[in-house]
Parts: sequence; C-alpha cells; structure tokens
Amino acid sequence: MEKLVTSYAGKYQGQPLVVKSPGRINLLGEHLDYNSGTVLPAAIDRYIYLAIGARQDDVINVYALDFNDEVSTSLSGLKAAWKLWPNYVLGVIQEFKNLGKQLSGMNIVISGDIPLAGGMSSSAALGCAAAFAINELFELNFTRVELARIAQKSENDFVGVKCGIMDQYASLFGKENRFIKLNCDTLQHEYVPFESDELEFVLFDSGVKHHLISSEYNVRRQECQQGLDAIKAKLPQVTKFTDLSEKDVVQFKGQLPEKVYNRCLYVVQEIKRVELACSALIGGDFERLGALMSLTHEGLKDLYEVSCAECDFLVNTVEKSEGVLGARMMGAGFGGCIICLVKKSSAEAVIAHTKAAYKQQYGKEPKVYHTAISDGSAIAEGVIV
Ligand code: GLA
Repeated sequence: MEKLVTSYAGKYQGQPLVVKSPGRINLLGEHLDYNSGTVLPAAIDRYIYLAIGARQDDVINVYALDFNDEVSTSLSGLKAAWKLWPNYVLGVIQEFKNLGKQLSGMNIVISGDIPLAGGMSSSAALGCAAAFAINELFELNFTRVELARIAQKSENDFVGVKCGIMDQYASLFGKENRFIKLNCDTLQHEYVPFESDELEFVLFDSGVKHHLISSEYNVRRQECQQGLDAIKAKLPQVTKFTDLSEKDVVQFKGQLPEKVYNRCLYVVQEIKRVELACSALIGGDFERLGALMSLTHEGLKDLYEVSCAECDFLVNTVEKSEGVLGARMMGAGFGGCIICLVKKSSAEAVIAHTKAAYKQQYGKEPKVYHTAISDGSAIAEGVIV
C-alpha cells in the first residue's frame, strides 16, 4: 500500500484516498446468481488497492502499478479501452455518468494481490474498488447494494461479460469468518458463520487462464434462460428456477435439447445443495459440507460443462488424500482454482502430494493459496504518506 501511495504521489502529486476491495471464494451455489438462486460466497484476505484523487479538469488517468501500464481519457469522451483491465474502472465511471452524477476528472492508481484469472474475482474486486472509491471521493451516498449493482452493470455493459451479482456483492459485503448467504432474487443476505479451529479452505490454482469465460459464460446464461422459458410455457405457475424441484425438471428429459436439459438439472440440484450446505454449516457437519462440495463439482463437470481437465485432475487428486473433506472447481470455470476443505493438520501433506502429482501430469506445480474469510470493501487504513 505504501508503494501505491508513493507511486500516486510521484505520478500525480498529492495525497490520495485509498480503498481496498477483496476477492472472494464461493462455497456453494455456483452459476446460481444469474438464475435467481442463493449463493454462499465469502470475501477473502486478498485485495485490489485503489488510490484516487480528483482533478480540476476533465482528464481521467488510470495507472496499473503491477503492469506499469497507464490509460488516459476524458470524462466527456469516455469510451472503452482496447485493453481489458482499464474497462473495469472506466465502466464504473460510465455507470455513474449514466446515473446523472456530477464527477470531475480523476487520477487513479491500482495494485493488488488477488491472482489474475484465478477464479477469485480480481476483476469484480477492481470494479468494486472503483465504485467504492468514487462514491467516497465525490460523496455520492450510494448504498453498498447500489454500488454492487453499479459494478455488475458496468461489467455487463462496458466489459461485455453478463456476470451475475455474486462477486461484487461478496466484495462489498464480506465479513470476517462469515459466509454470505445471498438470495440473488431478492438481494437479501444473511451471514452464516464458519467456525472451525481444525479446518481450512485451501485453493489450488490450475494455472489455466479461463479465456472462454466471456463467450461460454454468456452461452450458459442463454441456455438456462432457454430451458426456463420452455418449462414456463408448459408450467405457467413457474416464474423462476427456485419454483422448480428436480422432479419437475426431470419430466422435461427428451423435451429439451440435451445440453439445455442438463444445465437446468444442474441448477435445480445446486439450489437444493445450497440449502443443505447452510444446514450443514450451521450444524457444524463439515463432512456433509465437503460431500456437497464434491457433488457440486460433478454437476459442474458433467451437466454444466464448465470444468476443465486440469481442475478435474486437482479435484480427483485432493479428494483421494487423507484429511480432505471435499473439493470442487470454483467460480465461472474453464480454468482457475479449485477450493478444497481440508483438515489443518493434513493440509501440508495434501499440498505436497498434490503439487507433485500435478507436476508429474502437467509439468508444472499448481500455485496454492491459503485463505482467511475477511471483511468487505473499506477505506484502507495505515497509509504512510
Ligand atoms: C463468475 C461471475 C459470477 C458467477 C460465477 C459463477 O464469477 O462473475 O457472477 O456467475 O462466475 O458462479
């Protein structure tokens, strides 16, 4: 953070406001946020840090310290950059403009320690950091829910990924040692504690960069919508996936295109699993929780088809290890990380074994991240200027 502020002062002069927005893990409820389901994410102790200061003129400068890359544009002539990373910031500025907010030019420096394309939502954290910082700097008084929607909408419209709201919500609403049980239909949430001295979540990064994410992700959304529309046409009382049981969907086997049917089946199964997972968490039944995670992986692999060989290999390897309660690919898919619930006493051995097995199979070791469940977006404290 000190480096960030020094860099800001060197480039743009003055003392910036510094905010931080975390990445997230997701315990269960994958691909449910855009299907009106309930999700179970949590913010983690890895952040995007963003330093911001207002300018007297119309100029917008955004500098990515970790890439040593800068983009300059203007408030009045704002348009998407050809590179991806600045658009998570510029899109948010555009959203505030669309909402009729009066801004000035601004200088922004960003840095962070969330692995890129690792499935921990570094991009959503960047959008949230921008939304949170601009809201503070220009005293716009948006609530956190509104900021989550702004960051999501900017990713939908400006970046072109039709993501749901889970990542932004988790980044803004994270709470230490709590999962966020978020109903994505009503945008109401409650916190579910994760309290265990014996267990931890470890992430293994396949190193596969999910380049399919924008195209295939949007296709999954369309397939779910197509399935739901066809079901609704036959069952008019149904308005959303949460109105359906697995039994209802099974009746449509053979009536829907196979892939569409499989997507719908996954969605209703996962909706049920989230409920079971919450009961398991509350009851401290972590064996059950782990088993549900592993079932979710099966569904994501076989029915939703968003896993990849490397993530499947990692899940299979850790699941066979002593002390692992469950594991699954995490996030949108097509690469990135798997999340593994493991006994702390076994973690070291599991990591060593998995690294070696992965290296033998793919010629490189997976990166490993230990995570702590943390608070959401905030003004960063302890900045030395
Ligand atoms: C990405 C999206 C989220 C969510 C997950 C899958 O992270 O940004 O909105 O859909 O994929 O659960």
